Amino acid sequence: EKGGYDHFMLKEIYEQPRSVRDCMRGRIYPDSGEVQLGGIKEYAEKLKNVDRIIIVACGTSWHAGLVGEYLIEEYARVSVEVEYASEFRYRNPIITEKDIVIAISQSGETADTMAAITLAKEKGATIFGICNVVGSSIPRISHAGVYTHAGPEIGVASTKAFTAQVTALTLLAFYIAKLRGQIKRSDLTYLLTELNNIPNEIQKALAANDGIKQIAHHFTGSRNCLFLGRGSGFPVALEGALKLKEISYIHAEGYPAAEMKHGPIALIDEEMPVIFIATKNSSYEKVISNIQEVKARKGVVIAIVTKGDKHVKAIADYVIEIPESNEAFLPLLAIIPLQLLSYHIAVMRGCNVDQPRNLAKSVTVE
Ligand code: F6R
Repeated sequence: EKGGYDHFMLKEIYEQPRSVRDCMRGRIYPDSGEVQLGGIKEYAEKLKNVDRIIIVACGTSWHAGLVGEYLIEEYARVSVEVEYASEFRYRNPIITEKDIVIAISQSGETADTMAAITLAKEKGATIFGICNVVGSSIPRISHAGVYTHAGPEIGVASTKAFTAQVTALTLLAFYIAKLRGQIKRSDLTYLLTELNNIPNEIQKALAANDGIKQIAHHFTGSRNCLFLGRGSGFPVALEGALKLKEISYIHAEGYPAAEMKHGPIALIDEEMPVIFIATKNSSYEKVISNIQEVKARKGVVIAIVTKGDKHVKAIADYVIEIPESNEAFLPLLAIIPLQLLSYHIAVMRGCNVDQPRNLAKSVTVE
């Protein structure tokens, strides 16, 4: 049932070329620049005129929501707020009939997320679900939605569900962008062609596994770890930190790289591994200066870089390459090595990666 892999988590990490492909299947048409989302098409008019989208979720799904915020604001130019479902539901949120509230949930059963959309629905908002488990509670409460089609996820640490959520949100961003006339047909055709190729690029990112395993050996005794990124690399850093802490029990935190100097820099010494998302994109130069700040304080730097990178390689202690891609798709590639790194560190520490202590696959209590 684990398909020859030692753990479900590893199997699910390796399934991502397929699960991302399944999420896009029948929904993108690169040649004609079309995105079809059958589950929400009845609400096209509403999406065309919406002023604000609120995303509610927990954990990894909340991280996917943050990636969605970047994409929807960048391409569709609609203002997006991303909220922890648990906070949203208890603070008398301002919601009107004009709002669209999107719940993201792998299981479709998370109690706080269900309560958040139940509240928003009572206040008249339109509710979309982005869920993996077909027929679960959240899709039933929602007015409409997009299934992620990642297939069953057994490992408690979410991997393929995350990349499928990000894929669905990417499709949604392009769909809304097109509806609102925010994107040129030629740009959309180009982006959809690139997106269509992402499953192949994920496959290439997975090929770094042996090197990642070697790197993991050096960090099995670490007590703390910092993950830093900018732009859409920031939610990737948060998700990388969550993966490491939940399965290896190493304390890890994700931060926007620029925030380092406002506090976390005090923690840096030769015992502190710092993992950077340092790919070639609009924040490349700035991330390099953040890496130099860590090196100046003797921190140990592991950098996720674009294939062929030279500058970061010259200053980082360890690098892991991912294929080059448009910045829009960076999270789908950059998370792969972080999933693998956490997995190997946890296995080497003797942890039960598929069923970490104190965690449940679906959190149906608040
Ligand atoms: C982390 C993880 C959790 C879930 C969270 C939300 O690996 O699995 O943080 O992401 O409990 O669960 P869903 O997506 O089912 O609502």
